[in-house]
Amino acid sequence: MKQGHAQSMEQDIKITIIDREGVTHQVDAPTDMNMNLMEVVRAYELAPEGTIGVCGGMAMCASCQCYVLSDHKLPAKSDDEDAMLSEAFHVEENSRLGCQLHIHENMDGLKVELAPEE
Ligand code: FES
Repeated sequence: MKQGHAQSMEQDIKITIIDREGVTHQVDAPTDMNMNLMEVVRAYELAPEGTIGVCGGMAMCASCQCYVLSDHKLPAKSDDEDAMLSEAFHVEENSRLGCQLHIHENMDGLKVELAPEE
């Protein structure tokens, strides 16, 4: 987390993330730091280093795949995200690439589960 985070707490939203061991975490995610969901998972160390965000958030590895469990209206998938998910393993109807989901205030209360490691 970058400095200055403490002053911007009111910008935070709550996200529930179920890790790959099935443990549920409720985390605060800042909406004003241009973060995506994959980076939030990494910031809280909810997946071992090297198992998530492998491509650096370019929609090219699917290591950040997660299942969206709440019924939030999320931005549509880009062609890149769609293409990557069509090649990935363990893909479900509600699969998304975490790195393509930018933290936005309308994601408050979002609940996701990390897909198994490939
Ligand atoms: S980090 Fe590689 S696809 Fe999201």
